[in-house]
Order: sequence, then C-alpha cells, then structure tokens
Amino acid sequence: MDLFEHEARELFEARGVPVPRGRVAASPEEARAAAVEIGGTVVVKAQVKTGGRGKAGGVKLAARPDDAEQVAEDILGMDIKGHTVHQVLVTEASEIAEEYYASFLLDRANRTFLAMASVEGGMEIEEVAATKPDALAKVPIDALTGVDAEKAREIVAAARFPAEVADGVAEALIRLWEVFVAEDATLVEVNPLVRTKSGEIVALDGKVTLDENAAFRHPGHAAFTDPAAGDPLERQAHEQGLNYVKLDGDIGVIGNGAGLVMSTLDVVADAAAEAGAVGPANFLDIGGGASAEIMSAGLGVILGDPGVRSVFVNVFGGITACDAVADGIVKALALLGDRATKPLVVRLDGNNVAEGRRILAEAAHPLVTVVATMDDAARTAAELAAVVTPEA
Ligand SMILES: Nc1ncnc2c1ncn2[C@@H]1O[C@H](COP(=O)(O)OP(=O)(O)OP(=O)(O)O)[C@@H](O)[C@H]1O
Ligand SMILES: [Mg+2]
Repeated sequence: MDLFEHEARELFEARGVPVPRGRVAASPEEARAAAVEIGGTVVVKAQVKTGGRGKAGGVKLAARPDDAEQVAEDILGMDIKGHTVHQVLVTEASEIAEEYYASFLLDRANRTFLAMASVEGGMEIEEVAATKPDALAKVPIDALTGVDAEKAREIVAAARFPAEVADGVAEALIRLWEVFVAEDATLVEVNPLVRTKSGEIVALDGKVTLDENAAFRHPGHAAFTDPAAGDPLERQAHEQGLNYVKLDGDIGVIGNGAGLVMSTLDVVADAAAEAGAVGPANFLDIGGGASAEIMSAGLGVILGDPGVRSVFVNVFGGITACDAVADGIVKALALLGDRATKPLVVRLDGNNVAEGRRILAEAAHPLVTVVATMDDAARTAAELAAVVTPEA
C-alpha cells in the first residue's frame, strides 16, 4: 500500500526524521488557516499517490495566507495523471541550498535490502539513473545488521555527500531505516532530502510503501487505507477474505491454490489469443476449502465485473475433494440466482472427481459446461467469451 506524502511525513516525524512543519487541508479555507498557523511563506502540495506533482502544477509557494487559500483553490480538484486532488499538504517553506535523494527498498532480485542515495536530488531519480548512473549510489543492506552508524557512513561515502552534511545525512539515514523496519515498509524514499541555507538536513518529500502482508502487526496502519482508492471489485473481494486481483480481460478465472491459478492465467491467455477473446479478467484463488459460501462470494465478485463474458472454474481436488467443490458450485449458483448470468466452464480433477462430475451432471445447470482437461476447458471458456456480445 502506497501512502500519501502527508502520511509518510507523519511516520518520519514520529521517528525523528527532520521534516518541515505541516498541516493537511481539504479546502481553501483550511489551507489558509494552516498557513496562518505555520506563519511565513508556505508550500501547498497536492496529495496524490503519483509522482511528478511539481511538474503538473501541484506544488506551489504561497507568501501569505491569502495566497495559500488561492493556490489551494487552484490545486484542490486538479487531476494529476488520473488522480483527483482531494487534499493538500501545507508546509513551511524551506530555504533550499542543495537537493539530494535517499531511499531504502526491498531488492527482490538480489534477495536483500538496498539503499540508494544521490547528491543529484529533486529531479526524477529514474532520470539520474539513466543519464548519470555513477551519481546514484546503491548499497546493499544486510537485514540482520541494518543501517547502523557504520553503514550510514558507507552510504554517505558511496554517494559522495559533501563533508559538511555527512553527519546530518547519516543521522537521517539511520532514522529513515528505523521507519523502514518498524513500519514494515518495502519502500521509504525521500526526494528531495535537502540541505537548507542554515545547514539543516530536512526531508521535504516522502514516499512510503507498506507491506500489506504485515498489516496484522500494525493496527495503526488501518488509518492509512484510502476507501476512495483502488478497484471497487478488489475492495469487495478483500472484504470477503478472497485472494483476488483484477485484470483487464474478459474471462473470469477461479481456481484453488495460487500456483494452479497462475498457470490457469497462462493457459487462458493463450486460449484467448487463439479464440479472439481478450484474456483473463482476474486472478482469484479460493484456497483449500471451496465451500459454497466461498464459491458464491468468488463468483459474485467475478460476475460483478462488467468486462467478464465467461468464467473458468479450475479446481484440483486435493485435501478438498471434488464432490465438495461441485457441491459448492451448485449451491453457489442457487445462492446467486438471477445474478448468475454468464457461462461457466468447470474443470475438476483429483480427489473424488467422478462424484464431483456426477453432482454437476445431475444438477445440469444451463450455464455450466463441464470439460475434462484444463487446456480444453480454457479453450471452451475463451470461445464462449469471444462469441458472447458485450452488454452495451
Ligand atoms: N517545504 C518546501 N520548501 C521549499 N521548497 C519545497 C518544499 N517542498 C517542496 N519544495 C520544492 O518543490 C519541489 C517538488 O516537491 P516534491 O518533491 O515534494 O514534489 P514532486 O517531486 O513534484 O512530486 P513527486 O515527488 O510526487 O514527484 C522540490 O524538489 C523542492 O524544490
Ligand atoms: Mg519529490
């Protein structure tokens, strides 16, 4: 989960990373009040979860409270790369002498953590990496030792920070790493980390991505979830405890076990290309116990996707026997009633498959086609998706 800048700022502040004073505002009047409270020149910043806000006109200086109100009025409601601005962060303006870059991230390719730092901050770091790769230091971090004073000095030296900021930057790095570990983040990025004219090191921007798998350790993170963000189907699925990811295709996919569902997506993508359908509409792993409730919850989510034209249910009976799954499908269709409107192709195999197929044959639901193999079932689902005309 990506956080808003003001949320990242909050986490930084709580762990002693120096940040400018700031207030969130949802209206021009609130922005004005924030500017009065902060005093002096302020910066009004669009709060959206996308980069390049500055270039888009979403970061503006305001010398007086009246200006802050006016600027907030301009920024609120603005669309930045498809994200509407609902809030602004009003922060005290810093007198910037130099802009740097610092981040910690999970380096999946190398199975470790990585620090990245550069004295060429402010601009997009991708650009620095592409045009001046030597200016972006990359230092692996051992998870067990983390960022202690020695590691912080190593990062500072690798990025060739000027001597007069070495201690301040090292201190900020140690605290940013504390944020990274304590909050279970997969990314903590500061761009720009600045040296002010009075010599202080301050994080003027912050980007934090939290590891949602660690959410159970952080009840406080629930406050960060943004109900307006994310796909509504994904939200509905998440609320029902389903492992669902929305994709852009027209063939709904349900399977049991992440590995089986992943391979089903591949097979469906191939079959779709062949049949002239678009491809998988989602990832949905219903896990081990494919009860009628879980099956109907899953089908309910998939059938709620207007892009779906057919559904492929691919189940391998292991611990959960095929007859229980077949039972689940029949009951789910009964529970869904009129809401079940799209053809279902079911492939069952494994434990108790004969009984499972018998249950489906006996129910003889008009929307259900049972197909024996995964490839054939994918082909059938793709052909069904390709022929059904989309609803206008
Ligand atoms: N508090 C501040 N005081 C003075 N200048 C600021 C302040 N905050 C931001 N700026 C200036 O505005 C520039 C852009 O700000 P910021 O990095 O927050 O947004 P951005 O880089 O455009 O957005 P994103 O990081 O989403 O791409 C900074 O590089 C800095 O020069
Ligand atoms: Mg920035």
